[in-house]
Amino acid sequence: MVIHFTLNGKPQSVDVSPSMPLLWVLRDTLNLTGTKFGCGMALCGCCTVHINGEATRSCVMPISAVGGKKITTIEGLSADHSHPVQQAWIEMDVPQCGYCQSGQIMAAAGLLAKESQPTDDDIDDAMQNICRCGTYPNIRKAIHRAAELQAAAPAPGAGGNAEALPSASGAATGGAE
Ligand code: FES
Ligand code: FES
Repeated sequence: MVIHFTLNGKPQSVDVSPSMPLLWVLRDTLNLTGTKFGCGMALCGCCTVHINGEATRSCVMPISAVGGKKITTIEGLSADHSHPVQQAWIEMDVPQCGYCQSGQIMAAAGLLAKESQPTDDDIDDAMQNICRCGTYPNIRKAIHRAAELQAAAPAPGAGGNAEALPSASGAATGGAE
């Protein structure tokens, strides 16, 4: 089945089983390995991408459900790691092992797109992604810092795709696999 959608600002088509999870399509078909596999059950958040601007777990999203939609992955959040969330992540040195961090960044970017000055409670409600390295305190600090950066220089479409901006080291930018 051929599915058409927009991926990181560009038209994309794939011919795969309609039940294939979006995460598999991204990683195995399109070789976008910045989005990670963790639990495969919508629990950990490693696989978070944006679908029409909403932070969404891609491991349980069949590709047939995203036809015609706009998908943004960590690779498309920004062209040069200039998204406020990425800048804050780098500044606050958030990642440890890094495995969960592309999902954390996409969840944070989704939050800031909706709530430009989130409270700690907003952050706790929105950030349900698991980090086995326990980077939660730095994630919270970095989200507050990203809110400051976003307020100082709002990025066009910040939070959505091209929504995006830019790059830093691997984990903050979806490098590695
Ligand atoms: S891999 Fe999708 S939520 Fe864990
Ligand atoms: S930084 Fe290691 S799991 Fe989050």
